[in-house]
Amino acid sequence: MPRIPTQDLVPGMVTAEDVISFNNQLILPRDMELTDKAITKLEFYSILSVQVKDETANVAIPSETPPDISYSDKIRNSQEYKVFKQDFESTLSEVEDSLNDIISKNKIDTDNLLQEPGKLLVHNPSGIHIFDMLHNMRMYDDPTYAHSLNVSLICHVFGRWLGMSDADVDILTLAGLLHDIGKLKIPNEIISKPAKLTDQEYTTVKSHAMEGYNILKDLPINEHVKRAALMHHERCDGTGYPLGLTTKRIDRYARIVAIADVYDAMTSPRVYRGPLCPFQVISIFESEGLQRYDPEFILVFLEYIVNTYMNNRVRLSNGLTGDIVLINKLDLAHPMVHCGSHYIDLSHEHGLYIEAIL
Ligand SMILES: [Fe+2]
Ligand SMILES: [Fe+2]
Repeated sequence: MPRIPTQDLVPGMVTAEDVISFNNQLILPRDMELTDKAITKLEFYSILSVQVKDETANVAIPSETPPDISYSDKIRNSQEYKVFKQDFESTLSEVEDSLNDIISKNKIDTDNLLQEPGKLLVHNPSGIHIFDMLHNMRMYDDPTYAHSLNVSLICHVFGRWLGMSDADVDILTLAGLLHDIGKLKIPNEIISKPAKLTDQEYTTVKSHAMEGYNILKDLPINEHVKRAALMHHERCDGTGYPLGLTTKRIDRYARIVAIADVYDAMTSPRVYRGPLCPFQVISIFESEGLQRYDPEFILVFLEYIVNTYMNNRVRLSNGLTGDIVLINKLDLAHPMVHCGSHYIDLSHEHGLYIEAIL
């Protein structure tokens, strides 16, 4: 039975094993046909690969246009996106140089580093939300640099939403930029290995948190930034790594970076689909993760994301289209939608959900 890296899984493949998390929690049972949602759940739990049944390993990438591809296309075709993409790419190569300098020369120029994400936010897009653009920027063959820049931009916006001071937003942005620096110490053949990781290799991948802390610990930067590198895979319920800490013992900045980090992973495009509809991501957070993240931060984050899509036209899972007119604070993934002559409160409609933003 072949073992397929999570980013290469395709809906229609069938699991050949129970998929278990670090702390022995059953995530997906054996013999389950994978769906978009199931694959996203694997990403949410940082599962790196899954064994699938032979006969399903070559399931073709669906030729039918995935529901949210048109929204991605709309973004990618906009002038705003084209400008952003150019800026992003030049910023990315500077970030790459800066991160490598930290490792090879053991030196850091914080002001310069912070200018990088700052430049991209100067023309903070109004019509199309910056997150939508970021979801289209993630490159398949770059496991660290583009993701780091993405996470730092998400952190920057998130810090503003949390009402942090400029100085604290800077610390958070830097924490996002450097959170995965330890991955640069992990051999590339392990990070990008397209086959089953051995237990030893898996342990090596997880060591990036401690490696990151070791790279940063003697540099003249804020302690929160160092602890965010160490603790961004910790989870409030104690199920994370490397130390299995619970809420209060996890650095505040690490708790925020953790949310930006997992959000970026879940919404990045995959070979067979565009970035996930944010309502699907929110629904997964609500059903799987609220106890794993600090409620003080996660609720603010999800609420702002949902509000971004207020008045947007959406397609529901029954094929109807309508506009989002009211957000349900207690059920963020299921707002009120105005469809033609009537209003549908998705929080009262079991099984009906937003399938795509149009
Ligand atoms: Fe990480
Ligand atoms: Fe990360």
